[in-house]
Amino acid sequence: MNSLNHVAIIMDGNGRWGLKYKNSRNAGHKAGLNTVEKIIKETIKNKIKFLTLYAFSTENWKRPKKEVNYLFNLLENFLINRIEELHKKNIKLKIIGVKNFSSKLNQLLSLSEKKTSKNKKLQINLALNYGSKFEIINALKNLSKHKKKINEINLSQYLQTKNIPDPDLLIRTGNTKRLSNFLLWQLAYSEIFFEKKLWPEFTEKDYNKIISDFKKVKRNFGNI
Ligand code: IPE
Ligand code: IPE
Ligand code: MG
Repeated sequence: MNSLNHVAIIMDGNGRWGLKYKNSRNAGHKAGLNTVEKIIKETIKNKIKFLTLYAFSTENWKRPKKEVNYLFNLLENFLINRIEELHKKNIKLKIIGVKNFSSKLNQLLSLSEKKTSKNKKLQINLALNYGSKFEIINALKNLSKHKKKINEINLSQYLQTKNIPDPDLLIRTGNTKRLSNFLLWQLAYSEIFFEKKLWPEFTEKDYNKIISDFKKVKRNFGNI
């Protein structure tokens, strides 16, 4: 059985769910947040140490301002209301991506990271304004600036996922089979599960089924 240390999730399908059931994409984002909470709990139950959640890509800025603002408001309120609880549950929050939001949100994110930085139970990496191509180019620029040799180990040290083991498992909900500029380097040997259900309708049971299927996969890493 494979051990499972790191799960990464592309939480896709909020907008479609919202339109279908509430006639509003934003209602889908709100509903998606409930799934986030359920999945965090289930991740802890499964004793998984790292959970990386794709919440906003560098490409998502193309969306209408109203939707983008709604998403960041949702995040702001979530942090204000829930960071204490996450902290009590011994969860560490780390942001991957470039923090260039409103000064209020930037501060809130930095404070949340700082407050939870010593926590040990689960590390949640929240990918916000994250783009893998930018991350890799930036790492290469830093390697050259610091006159470091270009090799796998050095490059990993300049990625935003520095010191985080690569995901064992990637899940994308929402019935779409693509990576959308997510962790292109780090997913080199991850097992990938594409899930038909939209993120707001993804349940603990669906999650546990994927985890149990993942555990049975023969991971070769090039070997036989
Ligand atoms: C993913 O859901 C959440 C974000 C990108 C913030 P979408 O909003 O992409 O949902 P669909 O794919 O349009 O249904
Ligand atoms: C990927 O979903 C980004 C997040 C889930 C945050 P998208 O819905 O933005 O991906 P594309 O644009 O359809 O590939
Ligand atoms: Mg989408």
